[in-house]
Amino acid sequence: MGMTSWACHTCRAPLESKPAGQHICHGTTTSDKLSINNSMKTRLILPIVAIALIGSTSLCSAAPSIKDVMKAAMKGDDSLFKKVSTGKGTDADTAKLYNCLKNMAGQKAPKGDQAAYDSKTDTLIKAAEAVSKGGKDFQALSQAGNCKACHTDHKGK
Ligand code: HEC
Repeated sequence: MGMTSWACHTCRAPLESKPAGQHICHGTTTSDKLSINNSMKTRLILPIVAIALIGSTSLCSAAPSIKDVMKAAMKGDDSLFKKVSTGKGTDADTAKLYNCLKNMAGQKAPKGDQAAYDSKTDTLIKAAEAVSKGGKDFQALSQAGNCKACHTDHKGK
């Protein structure tokens, strides 16, 4: 055997002129390879876009005040809070409620004892977090979100 003959490492096909590294194996053409690359990129990019969209549709994405949180999550008979605390929220609703309510932490209570406000807020956020993680304690959430109890103590005029 005087002549060097190249063969593909993977498919063993004899190669005429191209060194092994440049041979494209079997049915895998260059365009197949490109489409494999593209579909992998799509799989990586789509969830990121979805997360960005969920974030931007929430009123609570940019450092909202307590009032903003109330309007976005609590206010009204068809509020996000009502839906989720009665077990009717979708996964997106529960995630949004939790992300929204989180912003109540660390805010200055407009009225009343700050430590009491912090404690009520903490209980509410934890109850929403539990439900957002698949928990079913809707009663705990609905109690923690008792409008009147919190407003009587902490809502100013
Ligand atoms: C853990 C405390 C807490 C809970 C629970 C709570 N709120 Fe509030 N809410 C507040 C505070 C504090 C304010 C006053 C915010 C301010 O004046 O800056 C407020 C204000 C509001 C406002 C007025 C917003 C505005 O634009 O002035 C509405 C409406 C409201 N809450 C609705 C609700 C409803 C409905 C519920 C129950 C489903 C609820 N809140 C539960 C703390 C709470």
